[in-house]
Amino acid sequence: MYYPEDIVEEVRARNNIVDVVGEHVRLQKKGSTYFGLCPFHNEKTPSFSVSPGKQMFYCFGCGAGGNVYSFLMQYENATFQEAIKTLADRAGIKLPEIEMTEDMKRAASEKQVLLDINKEAAKYFYYALRNPAGKNGYEYFKGRKLSDETMKAWGLGYSNVNPDDLVKYLRSKGYSDEMIIKAGLASHDEKRGTHDKFWNRVMFPIQDTNHRVIGFGGRVMGDGEPKYLNSPETPIFDKSRNLYGLNFARSSKKNHMILCEGYMDVIAMHQAGFNEAVASLGTAFTSGQAAILKRFTDSIVLSYDSDGAGTKAALRAIGILRENGMSGRVLDLKPYKDPDEFIKNMGPEEFQKRIENARNSFFFEIDILKREYNTDDPEEKTKFHREIARKLCTFSDDVERNNYLEAICREYMIDPASMRKLVSATVNQTGLATPIKPKPKTGEVKRSTPEDGIKKAQRILLTWLTEEPKVYERISEYISARDFTDGLYAKVADRVIEGIRSGNLIPAAIVSEFEDEEEQKEVAGMFNTKISGLDGMPLENESDIDRAHALKDVVIKVKESSYDYYSRNLSSDVKALDEVIKGKKLLEKLKNTTFSI
Ligand code: GTP
Ligand code: MN
Repeated sequence: MYYPEDIVEEVRARNNIVDVVGEHVRLQKKGSTYFGLCPFHNEKTPSFSVSPGKQMFYCFGCGAGGNVYSFLMQYENATFQEAIKTLADRAGIKLPEIEMTEDMKRAASEKQVLLDINKEAAKYFYYALRNPAGKNGYEYFKGRKLSDETMKAWGLGYSNVNPDDLVKYLRSKGYSDEMIIKAGLASHDEKRGTHDKFWNRVMFPIQDTNHRVIGFGGRVMGDGEPKYLNSPETPIFDKSRNLYGLNFARSSKKNHMILCEGYMDVIAMHQAGFNEAVASLGTAFTSGQAAILKRFTDSIVLSYDSDGAGTKAALRAIGILRENGMSGRVLDLKPYKDPDEFIKNMGPEEFQKRIENARNSFFFEIDILKREYNTDDPEEKTKFHREIARKLCTFSDDVERNNYLEAICREYMIDPASMRKLVSATVNQTGLATPIKPKPKTGEVKRSTPEDGIKKAQRILLTWLTEEPKVYERISEYISARDFTDGLYAKVADRVIEGIRSGNLIPAAIVSEFEDEEEQKEVAGMFNTKISGLDGMPLENESDIDRAHALKDVVIKVKESSYDYYSRNLSSDVKALDEVIKGKKLLEKLKNTTFSI
């Protein structure tokens, strides 16, 4: 965090989170809280909440949460620096020059220079396309049925036939050969010196979600090898974490996104009104890209080429989507090769129909599988059915598996009873029924551990303290920040207690102290857990006596686990002995006390 804390806090306080979130999510007031459909995962009933009191948002469905900064960072895929700029502008606050260490300055300025160079290059290509000398490029795009408006919106350009024009231009703007090469726009060799990477190509600037140019794709006009030349990866261009067209598609109102392979496909789709289209960047679709898409939707329509390579790529993408807990459907573009050609020949209405009829990815996989078997031959047919059974075993949910089983049997005219037998046999024989569950985002297997129970109790206590700070008087004798034995929890507890003591507890300000998005989410969770007993019983409508009982249980749980922790770590933590001796006594006293609220 480069800005002084008081500025960070002022900017936060002057942007009401309800208004900022409300600019992107439709919110409805229920009691003291606003609810809406979560923009970070796909849902039909609202579990996304915004609390004006706490100035925080939290999704009970997917755990996204934080303050107004975290919201922008997560929603716009922005850095903290970008979020604070946006919010300062919004509130009319002028930010001071940032204080940076030399290293930070160097890294930030290198990235900035690379962004500046790419931006200059994009301008250069853009004007070249509109010059008489760029006639070939312009004609090429016209020939591919792109309108002037489309060319403008996508910043399309042209790199001319001279081998070092761009380098000369960028030098004239004051950039060093070293940085031009680092930006991926030039190479250097003995014979030619520093020379342009792109020449005699039409140019597609690649933008990040904030519309900043981070690289280029260049296409030959006509035949030639390679057909597309792309910028190499650079400090600002990570191909596995960006998607072509996402800067526009992110604001599409559709509840799915279309994933395809080509720049031209994306542009053609947007031009035809399908502004939900994106493409991976000349490389295979990655898990990182899936995670980015998942922020916007978990329903993906795959629109890959209808040839063999496209089918293979689609199958891979389906697997990646599934691993990320997303669902895929596959467009049938036949008899055309790709979305661009399809739309050109059949028009947008037909394309819309194909979207509506896109095939569920499981069925698509079975269709492809079927091609490998001659089902007129009984032996091959049996093998095919076995293979279906094996695939069905990958559904861990019984209901889901059964629904697929029935649908597949109906479609392929297989007797459901015998398929059920096959599935059971497969389970027994090969043990294949190990459920292939979508991996949780963190990549760890989610299992409830004693640790989870402890953290849950700690979260209940932290939320309780923020919603009813006076509770602290009852428990201050027993609980200190050190009882929250996880580093992050301890930090937050420390800030909460300090806030209560000074009469100035602002949970949303505490969130700002954590720069990492994941940490912000976790912290938001600590302030937005439903106040309940350890058994999960909500307490809103309970009597004060019952609430006091529940509070006591929660406090005991937190204290006991801290006592355990310090007993186990006696040798490695110097203060632990002290804690253990005191803890033992306090625990006994606590258990014999009657709590009141
Ligand atoms: P058009 O022929 O212009 O319609 O191309 P397309 O957009 O239909 O692309 P195609 O299906 O041929 O390829 C899909 C994507 O793969 C392109 O958008 C490029 O990102 C990438 N690509 C295609 N050809 C090459 C190549 O020769 N080299 C590299 N590095 N990438 C390529
Ligand atoms: Mn094409």
